Amino acid sequence: MWSSISLLPDDPIFGLNALFLKDQHPQKVNLGIGAYKDAAGKPVVLNSVHTAEKLLLEKGFNKEYPPMEGLPEFIQASMTLIFGKDNPLLTDGRLVGIQSVGGTGALRIAAELVSQKCSKNVFLPTPTWPNHQQIFNFAGLKVSSFPYYNQNTHGLDMTLMIQAIKEMPPRSLIVLHGCCHNPTGLDPSLAQWQELSHLIKKQQLLPFFDLAYQGFAQNLEADAAGIRLFVADGHEMLVANSFSKNFGLYGERVGSLAIISQDAATSRNVKSFVKQLIRSNYSMPPIHGAQIVTTILKSESLRAEWKLELQEMRYRIITMRQALVAGLHALQTPIDFSFINEQTGMFSFSGLNEAQVLCLREHYGIYTPLNGRINIAGLNESNIDYVVHSISQTLTSHET
Ligand SMILES: Cc1ncc(COP(=O)(O)O)c(C=O)c1O
Repeated sequence: MWSSISLLPDDPIFGLNALFLKDQHPQKVNLGIGAYKDAAGKPVVLNSVHTAEKLLLEKGFNKEYPPMEGLPEFIQASMTLIFGKDNPLLTDGRLVGIQSVGGTGALRIAAELVSQKCSKNVFLPTPTWPNHQQIFNFAGLKVSSFPYYNQNTHGLDMTLMIQAIKEMPPRSLIVLHGCCHNPTGLDPSLAQWQELSHLIKKQQLLPFFDLAYQGFAQNLEADAAGIRLFVADGHEMLVANSFSKNFGLYGERVGSLAIISQDAATSRNVKSFVKQLIRSNYSMPPIHGAQIVTTILKSESLRAEWKLELQEMRYRIITMRQALVAGLHALQTPIDFSFINEQTGMFSFSGLNEAQVLCLREHYGIYTPLNGRINIAGLNESNIDYVVHSISQTLTSHET
């Protein structure tokens, strides 16, 4: 029955984790998977999350099925966080909000919606989060790419991006990262978002924002500014957001999908179809993580505490990013890594090539994906010197 299936390679990120766990190197460092670690290298459960869980236990919620689209209070809170509390979109009926199984679940539901009802073409930035390709492929879309990052300047390639957008067929889906582009850590400026918005509208494309790191670049509001600008320009569009990183709720699988239509009547129809997609897929999303997020966002004090905890994560990452650049500079490594300080979010796109990445893995037990993306949140005071020295050694003493 299954003999036509050949063995596929492991997922580039999760497969790396398995290799890391097997490695016996005494100083091994995992800079692969995009999950935040504290200054001691340990996974973090936020205090606001702990408190919300205690409150939920005291309140004694039942475990009944939620609606197919998810918990209404969660959806309201999530949409407000993405679009801003005074956004007319929250009341004009054009927005359909859906609670999703993490950001990935939102991407997948949206991909199926688009594939069945709107377009078979999707364009992804080069590079992008590797799972994008797979998600859209499996939903039956033809996946193409457009230039985003310029390897020579280590900056955004607006010229090539604009040229490519002008050649996309009308109605195509174009995927953009709301902030903290994964893996490059480079986002358009507000002026560039404005330019992209006008062009995407003119070309009659459907913008789809993946917002997995809201709060990790500047703050919750500024990180959603590009998306809000597109909304103000009147696009029909989609946003997939994830609470995995900014609430540290990775395994709880919490996120949401926002679908914006031209009018309320269209939105009603869209919602009815999306509910069928959900019902035939997983019936309804899990409730625990969504209840945690709702409890925090609805309580003034817990929300304030969460924002501080988010800021702490952001600051620690910035400190480690600067320490990495300064350390490599101090050792006079042959490459100027100062461009890393311009990048935002959890990652740095180091520019290390495949041979250098493999050298770091084999000789030093340091794990990053083959594209050289470093999870800065995996660095801390205890391992930064070792990582800096190992990168320096890789670039100077090995043939890579
Ligand atoms: C760009 C991007 N989108 C989506 C996701 C998926 O997030 P989740 O774990 O909530 O499914 C990630 C997670 O790494 C991501 O980096």
